[in-house]
Amino acid sequence: MSDLLIRPYQPSDRARVRHICFVTGYIGEPVEWQWRDAESFSNIFTGYYTDAEPESALVAEIDGEVRGYLLGCIDSSKAWNPGTVVGRQITRRGIALRPGTAPFVWRALGDVVVDAAHKRLPAAAFSDPRWPAHLHIDLLRDARGRGVGAALIRRWLDTLRQAGVAGCYLETVAENTGAVAFFEAMGFEKRKKPIPAPGLRSPAGARHHVQLMVQSLQVGSGS
Ligand SMILES: CC(C)(COP(=O)(O)OP(=O)(O)OC[C@H]1O[C@@H](n2cnc3c(N)ncnc32)[C@H](O)[C@@H]1OP(=O)(O)O)[C@@H](O)C(=O)NCCC(=O)NCCS
Repeated sequence: MSDLLIRPYQPSDRARVRHICFVTGYIGEPVEWQWRDAESFSNIFTGYYTDAEPESALVAEIDGEVRGYLLGCIDSSKAWNPGTVVGRQITRRGIALRPGTAPFVWRALGDVVVDAAHKRLPAAAFSDPRWPAHLHIDLLRDARGRGVGAALIRRWLDTLRQAGVAGCYLETVAENTGAVAFFEAMGFEKRKKPIPAPGLRSPAGARHHVQLMVQSLQVGSGS
């Protein structure tokens, strides 16, 4: 392994974290083919973590360069409401009108209407006192498969245990089978059936699904 350093996030990492988020945004691959606006994408997926809770973010530096991150939230009830975050991108960034994002936004709206009718809409934000914390993790391709993700997760879970946090959840794309296997190897369990993700499609046009995963952290707490 080259020189790996897992360290706390610093404000100077912000642009790099946002870049990694965008180039890994579709199941670990660039998301540009279905969301052509890095600014709004990173605002939605990294904004809270870098700007409101930076003390819970970690980065993986390999040979002196940040190649991955874990963005954490200790108390998910404090995280920005996802609906509000997206709404802000509609009013401030014009994502419902921009050619690079509007098709996704309107498709998502259509999905919400259909999925609501079928009672299969994901909750705006997961909330359960057994798993108050959550995380996002992404590594650039050349940093994968050599223990970097495991090192980030272990460091985050140790922090949570030391803080007495009951448990941690995450949401991943069910079709991202490599990520699901990784999280299971890290002690997370699937919880509930996968739910269709509004707007998101495969290159062939198939819908993707959100898989909730949880891990209890305190001795004696069951999932
Ligand atoms: C998912 C991700 C964070 C995993 O990090 P990683 O550094 O590649 O994983 P590690 O090398 O630390 O693997 C730890 C264990 O997880 C398991 N694992 C990791 N990737 C796996 C895969 N693709 N398939 C099956 N098991 C896998 C293995 O059991 C591995 O243990 P081993 O080293 O004994 O084989 C990373 O691959 C990544 O960023 N992928 C793209 C973005 C992504 O999918 N993020 C998650 C979105 S929620």
